Order: sequence, then C-alpha cells, then structure tokens
Amino acid sequence: MDKTRISRVALIGTGFVGSSYAFALMNQGVANELIMIDINEEKAKGDVLDLNHGKAFAPSPTNIHFGTYADCKNVDLVVICAGANQKPGETRLDLVEKNLQIFKSIVTEVMDSGFNGIFLVATNPVDILTYATWKFSGLPKERVIGSGTILDTARFRYSLGEYFQIAPTNVHAYIIGEHGDSELPVYSSASLGATPIKNIINRSDEYKLEDLDVIFTNVRDAAYKIIESKGATYYGIAMGLVRITKAILTNENSILTISAHLSGKYGEDDVYIGVPAVINRNGIREIVELELDEREKELFQNSVDVLKNILAPHFD
Ligand code: LAC
Repeated sequence: MDKTRISRVALIGTGFVGSSYAFALMNQGVANELIMIDINEEKAKGDVLDLNHGKAFAPSPTNIHFGTYADCKNVDLVVICAGANQKPGETRLDLVEKNLQIFKSIVTEVMDSGFNGIFLVATNPVDILTYATWKFSGLPKERVIGSGTILDTARFRYSLGEYFQIAPTNVHAYIIGEHGDSELPVYSSASLGATPIKNIINRSDEYKLEDLDVIFTNVRDAAYKIIESKGATYYGIAMGLVRITKAILTNENSILTISAHLSGKYGEDDVYIGVPAVINRNGIREIVELELDEREKELFQNSVDVLKNILAPHFD
C-alpha cells in the first residue's frame, strides 16, 4: 500500500465492542487516523483521551479524536459497532427490530456527510444489518462488508488447534453461513497444513470424528457461554474487525470469512451471509466458492433461508 497515503477510519459506537476495536486498532498500528463517534459524547471523548494517553506505547502513531457524522466525508472506512447487544437468553436475531431503526438513522447520517468509502458492520444480527446498510447506503455491494463468521472461524481454528495441538494459523477450516445458530462448519475441506483433517482422523486411534461435532457445537454456542459469564463479548470480535480493517487498508487480497452479498455464488441470490472472500482496498474483490458436500449444502441452504425469512418483512 502507498505508505504516503493517510488511512482514515471512523468508528460509530464506542461501547464494549467499539472501544475494544479502537484499542486493538491502535495497538496494532493499522490506521493513521481514527475518529470516534457515539451518541454518548462524554463516553466517546473519555475513550479518546484514555487511548491517546497510551499513544507513546503504540507501535506507530494513530491520531485518535472525537468526531461527528460530518467527519465521515473523507474517511476510507466506517466501522459500525453501535446498537443494542445480546442479553443473556437472547439470540442475535432477537435484536433485529431495534437495530434496524438505529441503522437507518446512522447510515443516512453517514451518507449525508458525502461518505464514499467502505462500510464494515459488526452489530448483530450482523448479516441482516449489513444487508440493511447496503440498502440504506446505496453503495456497491463490494463496499458493504459485515464481520460475518470471521470470529466463528477464528474460534473454530483455535478449538481445532487445541485438539490437534497445532497453531491456529496452520488450521485451515471455515465456519460459513449466518453468524448465529444456523452457521455450519466446512469439514470437507478442512486441513492442518496441507493434510486433510479427515485423513488425519482416519489414520489415527487418538482422534475421533464425533469429537469434531462437539468442537463445532462449542464454537457455535461460544457467545452464549461468554455472555453468561461476563455479560457481553468484545475482545474476539474487536480483533476480527481489526483483521478485516488491515486487509482493506493495506490492500492485502487476503481470504477472510466475512458477511458478503451473494449474487449467484453458492447458487444463492440477494442475501448477505458468511462466506470466504478476497478482501483488499476496494472491499470485496471476489467471493470464494468452497466445494461443499451434500450435508454442508443442505445446512448452508437452511442458513440462507433463516436470513431471508428475517429480511422478507423488512425488504420486499
Ligand atoms: C460473538 C458476537 C460478536 O459471537 O456475536 O461473540
């Protein structure tokens, strides 16, 4: 990426996830400038001050300041973490009604500033709200991205790594579908390095296929467990958002499982859902179509149907 180019990010929503994102972004030195926006101005200003006091410790300077929607005009990326979050016992889909209203207001304000960059959506239900952001903004679908199953995939790789005692970076396995209860693991193409996991299990007495089902269930339900323990999740998702931000701002062309609009890929149309995609400074370069086995195809179709049934009453 052109080092002389100033990379600017606007963050909307400085609650648990947003402030953790700002903290991670600063500590990884990913952006040159971060504008923090929240309806609770005092809280946002407090975070700005608190973060700036750590500037001397960061690997490279990130100029962080409080801002308003008008400041979104010249930023490369707007990250939306604002909205209501899951309470114990709630599913992500329970948040649809209240967060759609919040998003209509936020996206309209951002677009009124003259913003013409990339949206990155984290608020749940993220697939639904990313679709809404695409509709409300009128931006090309390649420039409206949701965090999707990037965290689920990271949880999956961590858990498989623990089971096989392999670093997560060498576990190549994806969670796709809704970021939620209907997501699915793609075991058919999962590998440790270049070795398919299915081959490793078939050749070993130590590892069992049924253990993989337990691993996936724990990944799918991880957020519920964390929310029960500490009231919310924020560190993992914040680091996933920084990962996507870095791929965009440094023009990486990396493959990440994000929420992308399908227009024919996987045989589906007009839905935002978690799939692997190539990410660079223009947003989504292309969607990676995995070879799914019959069971995986069925589960993916179910996940698409879950999301489309939620969308239908709001976007005919
Ligand atoms: C989680 C939130 C980001 O899965 O939905 O932790």
